[in-house]
Amino acid sequence: MSAPVTTAVDEARAATALRRKDLLGIADLAPDEIALVLDTAEAMKEVGERPIKKVPALRGKTVVNLFFEPSTRTRTSFEIAEKRLSADTLNIAVASSSVVKGETLADTALNLEAMHPDTIVLRHSSSGACHLLSRICRSAIINAGDGMHEHPTQALLDAFTIRERKKRLAGLKVAIVGDLLHSRVLRSNIHLLTKMGSDVWVCGPPTLIPADIARFGVRATSRIDEAVADADVIMLLRVQLERMEGAFFPSLREYFNVFGMTEARLRLAHPDVIIMHPGPMNRGVEIASEVADGPYSVILEQVANGVAVRMAVLYLLSGGAGDEAAA
Ligand code: CP
Repeated sequence: MSAPVTTAVDEARAATALRRKDLLGIADLAPDEIALVLDTAEAMKEVGERPIKKVPALRGKTVVNLFFEPSTRTRTSFEIAEKRLSADTLNIAVASSSVVKGETLADTALNLEAMHPDTIVLRHSSSGACHLLSRICRSAIINAGDGMHEHPTQALLDAFTIRERKKRLAGLKVAIVGDLLHSRVLRSNIHLLTKMGSDVWVCGPPTLIPADIARFGVRATSRIDEAVADADVIMLLRVQLERMEGAFFPSLREYFNVFGMTEARLRLAHPDVIIMHPGPMNRGVEIASEVADGPYSVILEQVANGVAVRMAVLYLLSGGAGDEAAA
């Protein structure tokens, strides 16, 4: 029988696993499941602060990281998380795989499945790609970003960072500013923060505000001063030029003048405001360098917390403390 994962993990309610095979989006999660991930991530963060940053929770499990779009933070932090949990990890380099010969996503996944992985972490440019794999694969599927749909582990690490700094999520004013139309991070954050009781404001050029945004229970405005006024949290979203066909605003300089987060705009927020950005940042477009690198920024804390949150997700989807490997 294996040694316990950690006493801290056991104390962090890890006896409960997530009630699902896959993590496809935040829309599916109940508030108690979100809280379970965040609590478990606290214990996982402690593992990352030890001299030997490794526990045997996923020993004997195989995780495949399948990224069809570029990634720095998500792919790296999943791999570190998997290694810290003692999983065997495999990174598929799509550019040197048979995908370039025309193999479909479904066939790629089924061929990987034939080698009996336990979990597939997927990033893909098509919204719904993870749902397709979920239907045809026995493995657990983790959505690492699908098109413009969801990026659930980003929202979970954002919530973890906010909760760590503010000690709560409920009742906070969170202003999300930027390219709302193309952002999977926005969708996952709206689902999570509204489920957890935050007061969510979204702000961007009218051309980049989804027409149906109000039905998600958020307040939308194109006046940035109104969005950031007395905000506890300001989250900037990248202008996703690669997903834009045609002009959504006159120029990047104009965008920065009207929507860029500057020190002057920061002064409108709550005195203890935190500044967030999922990355990669366009400095001088959605955020001034003085703000990105300034005292209110928690942007690199978000990156660090991504490892702990992804450890928690991998662990809980594998059965948590109820799994024999973690017993
Ligand atoms: N936040 C995020 O998804 O970053 P990467 O694209 O680098 O993974």
